[in-house]
Amino acid sequence: MTLHLRDTPILNFLNECNKTSLEKKILDCGAGGRNPPLAIFYRDGYETHGIEILDSQIGKAEKYAKEHDMDFNIIKGDMRKLPYENESFGFVFSHHTIFHLPKAEIALTLKEMERVLKPGGLIYVNLQSHECIGYGEGEEVREGEFIAEEHGEMVLHSYYDDDEADVYFENYDIIMKRKFNLLIAANWCNNMAMIEYIAKKK
Ligand SMILES: C[S@@+](CC[C@H](N)C(=O)[O-])C[C@H]1O[C@@H](n2cnc3c(N)ncnc32)[C@H](O)[C@@H]1O
Repeated sequence: MTLHLRDTPILNFLNECNKTSLEKKILDCGAGGRNPPLAIFYRDGYETHGIEILDSQIGKAEKYAKEHDMDFNIIKGDMRKLPYENESFGFVFSHHTIFHLPKAEIALTLKEMERVLKPGGLIYVNLQSHECIGYGEGEEVREGEFIAEEHGEMVLHSYYDDDEADVYFENYDIIMKRKFNLLIAANWCNNMAMIEYIAKKK
């Protein structure tokens, strides 16, 4: 498998996960698509699990898995209501996904992710900053939440101030928090200023 600059956040998370002594069992929320981040964990010997709402996106991840002789174990479902037992994973993450939900649902989803995470387990999530170039485009439906047309579909984006999302991590120790610009970092998509968290559940 080929690694790209865009994989850096996931590689950083893998590095933090590998520093712990927890069982190598990981859940990806919003796990589909043609470059499934679970591949990086599979390659490193993790038991991978994913949840994805769209069949088409599951299909793309399965195609990738087949081509690389991998099996990610992605099920169809909604990350806002995770079909997993409490404290069943040492590691859980959501990459480039959660910021398409309204902020109230982001809060619920992060509670779900916290519920399935073991104490001492690690979470990774990235959110969009107010500094994204797309901020303010479309109709503001609630504060910091904009709906705009993208490729013929109405898509929601939730944007955050620098410290606004810290409240989601009150039951965690934040190991890493950074804001960075994907355009500069990877030169592969629009100017997206992301706020990333890696945190350890207390
Ligand atoms: C922009 S893609 C990112 C895919 C992958 N995480 C990555 O980093 O390449 C977002 C994915 O999240 C999925 N998704 C959106 N809302 C979801 C939900 N409520 N539950 C599960 N998956 C969801 C989408 O269908 C899509 O496959």
